[in-house]
Amino acid sequence: MSHDEFPTDQPAVVTCGLPYANGDLHVGHLRTYVDGDALSRALRRIGQQTAFVSGSDMHGTPVAVNAAEEGVAPREFALDFHETYAETFPQFNIEFDNYGHTDDETNVELTQEFVRSWVENDHVHEKEIEVAWDTEEDQPLPDRYVEGTCPYCGEQARGDECDEGCQRHLEPGEIEDPVSTLTGNPAEYRTREHKFLRLADFQEYLQGFLDRLEGTDNAKNQPREWIEGELQDLCITRDMDWGVDYPEDVDGGDELVLYVWVDAPIEYVASTKQYAERVGDDEYDWEQVWKVDGEERHGTAWDDEWSDENGEIIHVIGRDIIQHHAVFWPAMLRGAGYNEPRSILATGFVGIDGNALSTSRNRAVWADEYLDAGFHPDLFRYYIATGAQIDTDVDFSWDHFQERVNGELVGNVGNFIYRSLLFAERNYDGTPDATVSDDVRERIEDAIENFEAAVREYDIRELAEIAIKLSNYGNEYIQRNEPWNLVDDDPEEAEQVIRDCVQLTKAVAVLMQPVLPGKAERLWGQLGEQGSVADVTLDSALEAPPAEFDDPAELFEQVEDDHIEALNEELQERVEEASEASAEASNGGGEAAEDEGDDDAETADLQPLVEDRISFEDFEGVDMRVGEIRSAEPVEGADKLLRLEVDIGHEVRQVVAGLRQLHDAEDLPGTRVILLANMEKAELFGIESNGMVLAAGEEADLLTTHEDAPLGTRIK
Ligand code: MSP
Ligand code: ZN
Repeated sequence: MSHDEFPTDQPAVVTCGLPYANGDLHVGHLRTYVDGDALSRALRRIGQQTAFVSGSDMHGTPVAVNAAEEGVAPREFALDFHETYAETFPQFNIEFDNYGHTDDETNVELTQEFVRSWVENDHVHEKEIEVAWDTEEDQPLPDRYVEGTCPYCGEQARGDECDEGCQRHLEPGEIEDPVSTLTGNPAEYRTREHKFLRLADFQEYLQGFLDRLEGTDNAKNQPREWIEGELQDLCITRDMDWGVDYPEDVDGGDELVLYVWVDAPIEYVASTKQYAERVGDDEYDWEQVWKVDGEERHGTAWDDEWSDENGEIIHVIGRDIIQHHAVFWPAMLRGAGYNEPRSILATGFVGIDGNALSTSRNRAVWADEYLDAGFHPDLFRYYIATGAQIDTDVDFSWDHFQERVNGELVGNVGNFIYRSLLFAERNYDGTPDATVSDDVRERIEDAIENFEAAVREYDIRELAEIAIKLSNYGNEYIQRNEPWNLVDDDPEEAEQVIRDCVQLTKAVAVLMQPVLPGKAERLWGQLGEQGSVADVTLDSALEAPPAEFDDPAELFEQVEDDHIEALNEELQERVEEASEASAEASNGGGEAAEDEGDDDAETADLQPLVEDRISFEDFEGVDMRVGEIRSAEPVEGADKLLRLEVDIGHEVRQVVAGLRQLHDAEDLPGTRVILLANMEKAELFGIESNGMVLAAGEEADLLTTHEDAPLGTRIK
């Protein structure tokens, strides 16, 4: 069973992972919203009816813990951030059709309805479990109130998520060596009764769901591992005051609230419903999108029931919340008779200098900081949408931002458009009276086709680059034909060339609109077009622009060196402070370990062995080679990174490695190393990293061989 190609006859909804209403937005969060916004605009551009919705995530410990630290009631605290977010998004040209929040009535009612359906359909049961408890405060410690060791990968983890390690969701009671975040005391486990959604009921269904799922590879593939073996129950209640109440009319559970990950995704539905209520059901039929033929369906088979009457659900999220969206959420939907997601796009993470962003440590580039710097929002959108493939991690860098904006937007697009329109206006008062040449027409037709293909493949980077490539072609075209030399000698030919360039400019406006909506609108105006470029179809890229338009103005402004230097300095200071703070924190931890009588320093930090075995086949998929470092040089602006050239027999690979503070760059050439040759490519500070050098531990002790296996030998 496969899905109809976009545009389909049914309405679509694009949703974005809800931001926790607990702190300022940073450039990492913005990646979800920029990509979601661009995709929804692009879908509309190819004629797909699309609603774009999200909302603030108000509940759970992420909000409760931070509100308590500020001494503010959670509702008030979260509403404050909610309002700020609602104002911030439009400043990045992120325009939701509806932006709600999880604590509003629509969502609370809908959430309780979901729970009732699960209970009626016998997917919920009650169990006694062990929950972490703070004996000093005499209170339970749900989720972020407790920290400890992840039982799957051994990394330090939060009560409900292995945020720094394997990214798995953790159930209450699973975390090892639990410590209370309230008092720092070791937590005790106590028995409590809780409600559980029996995920095992959906095991077979989920297998089929993952086979049908479209989107990024990480979202389609990672969950397969998580649904092997019998699926664990999902605890859907918590011992807390702040949250959506477990429905009163369902027996038991009166004192409990629902786990935040129950009411959060349901906000996708609630937000769509609110949108439909505003525009009218005949304009947008939310039930057609979210419900299965408007009826409730249960059981495990789906393929026979598939109906192309269902609308299209597309989720855009960061890669940290794949399990919630590709495993728990489809089961939740299914259990309540709702439709399933058609696609999940999980973006890579945004970091700085190879490190994760951290709100609490102030290691981030903030949304407000960007806006305060006075750059147009579309520049950021372009940078973030094209910096890497959607599912690859990237580092935010002001240098790279400047380079991309000045090179591609100012130097290429801006330059082409300005030259063309200025020439057209000066010589012909607007579009010259000629027919577009076949070559240019075909080139635009190809660009339209590529655009449609990119939308269908959810390839946001390609989508953003189509207009850039077209204007690149335009630049070459104008340069090659030199219309300025033709005006006197061959006026007809000059008219032809400029007619073509004005058409290319119009096509650029239409094609760049999803990623650069503000700039596209402005260009539309410069071309003398009426109405909004957002409302035209792709075909208008081939329609003649108005015969008259005014003098153009430059579309993009150069990003100046001193501005970037100042921003870099500020950021560097902040990053250094953040790493000093974390170094102090980890030194503290080390001393504590010594105090506990850990006399064997060599093994003090041993991580537990991973219990999950991999097959020989899996191992065969790992291509490690003997290599030799040929050159090593610092990456400008990144204090941890080196750019290496590693010879692996077949070829010399460029690799970016976080070795700068641990090894002297001059000593590295000639060192034999082991290279993970089929590591996903990544881009760091604008440099492609094509492989990974293997090293052990915090000091990055480089792996090598002890005899003289030739370069390129495979490790087996
Ligand atoms: N509230 C949950 C999502 C609930 S969805 C039903 C949440 N909130 S969040 O505030 O932590 O993240 C909001 C969005 O930003 C998510 O899509 C998340 O994956 C994304 N990102 C948060 N930090 C990020 C980076 N550093 N880089 C890229 N995306 C990141 O998760
Ligand atoms: Zn883990």
